[in-house]
Amino acid sequence: MVVLRRVERSVGTDGGAKPFLKWVGGKRSLLPQLLPHVPERFGTYHEPFLGGAALFFHLARTRPPFRARLSDTNERLVRTYLAVRDRVEEVIVLLASYPHDPEFFAELRARDIDDRSDVEVAAWLVYLNHTGYNGLYRVNSRNRFNVPFGAYARPRYCNPALLRAASRALASAHIEAGGFERVAARARRGDFVYFDPPYVPLTATSAFTAYTRDGFGHDAQQRLRDVARALKGRGVRVLLSNSSAPAVHELYRDGFELVTIGARRAVSCRADGRGPIAELIIR
Ligand SMILES: C[S@@+](CC[C@H](N)C(=O)[O-])C[C@H]1O[C@@H](n2cnc3c(N)ncnc32)[C@H](O)[C@@H]1O
Repeated sequence: MVVLRRVERSVGTDGGAKPFLKWVGGKRSLLPQLLPHVPERFGTYHEPFLGGAALFFHLARTRPPFRARLSDTNERLVRTYLAVRDRVEEVIVLLASYPHDPEFFAELRARDIDDRSDVEVAAWLVYLNHTGYNGLYRVNSRNRFNVPFGAYARPRYCNPALLRAASRALASAHIEAGGFERVAARARRGDFVYFDPPYVPLTATSAFTAYTRDGFGHDAQQRLRDVARALKGRGVRVLLSNSSAPAVHELYRDGFELVTIGARRAVSCRADGRGPIAELIIR
């Protein structure tokens, strides 16, 4: 616990890049357990389940210069990273013009945001992420964002220093929308891939797989295992996170090393409330 607090403080106070979105399953609090498994040296870093990009931002701060390929199936999320990388000052100006009140939240939430520019998508996502309940990203069957207003006293959705630091870290990163399978064609011997998929639910009542409209079922978990195995066979270093559900132990039984770690979730995955749950690091 002491170690965890020390790392979080150093990530937060040196003016360096760190996640500018709260993301379910975000790995900031697990960095101390993940970092010992990151190779000393690697070619390109690949993060195909990008979310809040906690490990990417940490490596960008601590291992520059550094090549990265980042992707996610959530197109709004990807467009947000592209705008923060390429047009951060416009994103900041737009966010600074947004008031913090429930009426504006409701109006922004209802916009047909996919028809707008990347800058508008980024401001939309950052604002809703910081002012919506619990930082959730949740959409209905029509891809409409449906998280309620969070009623926080002073949410910091417009944080120019944080956004500019993220922009610098992303400057040379390749960012694209797409499924994790693409990494199989992109990664080369000596590269490093971190897979942080939606987790296999620990129990039937604890599922939180609705990151996108598509969900992420057992077939996808199997395809992911197969991609990871193929990459390892080609000399690519891989690291995966997942829950410690029996199905995960079964999937990675042959040819992988499994390390159990404790984790505390920002959004509980447990039917009985918040608290530490076991997770696996797989390599
Ligand atoms: C657990 S989150 C990643 C959290 C991230 N590591 C962080 O630190 O914030 C999982 C991400 O996978 C994305 N995702 C879901 N299905 C996917 C797929 N088939 N291929 C690529 N990304 C996917 C979701 O949109 C979500 O952003």
